Amino acid sequence: MSKKKVMTIFGTRPEAIKMAPLALELSRRPDLDALCCVTAQHRQMLDSVLEIFHLKPDYDLNIMQPRQTLSTITSKCLLGMEDVLEQAKPDLVLVHGDTSTTFAGALAAFYHQIPVGHVEAGLRTYDKWSPFPEEMNRKMVGAIADLHFCPTASNRENLARENITKGVFLTGNTVIDALQTTVVKDFTFSEDILNNLDYDNQKVILVTCHRRENYGQPMANIMTALRRVADAFPEVELVYPVHLSPVVQEAAHTYLDNHPRIHLIAPLSVDEMHNLMARCYLVMTDSGGLQEEAPALGKPVLVLRRETERPEAVAAGTVRLAGVEEADIFRMACELLGDRDAYLKMAHAVNPYGDGHACQRIADAIEWHFGLRSQPPAEFHP
Ligand code: UD1
Ligand code: UDP
Repeated sequence: MSKKKVMTIFGTRPEAIKMAPLALELSRRPDLDALCCVTAQHRQMLDSVLEIFHLKPDYDLNIMQPRQTLSTITSKCLLGMEDVLEQAKPDLVLVHGDTSTTFAGALAAFYHQIPVGHVEAGLRTYDKWSPFPEEMNRKMVGAIADLHFCPTASNRENLARENITKGVFLTGNTVIDALQTTVVKDFTFSEDILNNLDYDNQKVILVTCHRRENYGQPMANIMTALRRVADAFPEVELVYPVHLSPVVQEAAHTYLDNHPRIHLIAPLSVDEMHNLMARCYLVMTDSGGLQEEAPALGKPVLVLRRETERPEAVAAGTVRLAGVEEADIFRMACELLGDRDAYLKMAHAVNPYGDGHACQRIADAIEWHFGLRSQPPAEFHP
């Protein structure tokens, strides 16, 4: 039987971090021909991940522009994918999560009548506007996809509510696979500031913030709260690797510059980020990925959003929704910095998102789908 061609398509940092271990796993399967196409919706932040995982894409659409709009990303990906799909003719396309690349990649495959597998399927907030545009992207990809790889049982229930029950696999999240390869005991950071922090005696807060629905007033509130936290607690060192989006850069520098214990640094490579997370005291973020990684490392997370599509760690008590109002964020941070018991209640390691074998399960499921394996993979159980 000829090899089945499976093409992974991704474009942003989080997709790359979560798809790179899968692309590598697929390339190790002798009965599959693994191809990788990047849209480069992100350029530098994508390349940094490709470098860490030693992954060389077969196709690179190189679409990124400064301050790109949703329409330009989507249309450039869609048009760019046309030649790639016509040339490569994959038997299956895999997209990840909920970005514009994800949606355009799935739509392009659909237009070429190529089956689609959705990695990280079934996450929902049920609020069309938040996260924006991700909630709609994931719903539209869910409607297009033939195979759905759900990280958790509640993701699978979300799909069932939309009558998506065929081709659904419970696999865990591939980010936990990635995490297991990056965190090491003696890690040397490339930034001196990170090597010089006293992780035992200071309280290092790791911050990230980039979501489109937080642009404007919510981001101003968040940044103001962060500065108040640094002012109120002399033992706090706030480390914020700032996303390269000019909107985010502007907000971060406007509100957080010129404070001796607030460190605005360039985006970290994924191994640096994971090792910093493993050493910090607390994570404050509006990122999706960090809400999955930090609980696995036993770090409390305050989510700088009004809702989350990742309720599992909230239920386990390690993630709390802080919202986007200055007073709420400040109050919740104060509690974790000032009340040891409240902190310890949240700071326990939980792993609702994966066991490090998600990529293996997804590759097995794909082989089973193609009749190359007699059994589907066993489900992930936390
Ligand atoms: C995108 C995704 C979001 C995801 C986030 C992860 C969409 C609509 N949004 O949002 O779901 O959470 O990535 O980080 O798909 N830039 C650079 N270099 C880079 C990356 C970005 O300069 O390596 C700048 C560019 O000016 C770019 C801007 O950041 O135009 C915004 O990038 P974009 O991908 O449009 O949006 P994100 O906010 O990164
Ligand atoms: N990350 C990174 N360097 C950074 C910030 C984040 O490697 O400076 C990683 C982080 O560990 C996680 C992923 O990027 O794996 C999350 O990406 P992001 O927050 O950009 O997007 P989201 O997850 O919100 O879609």
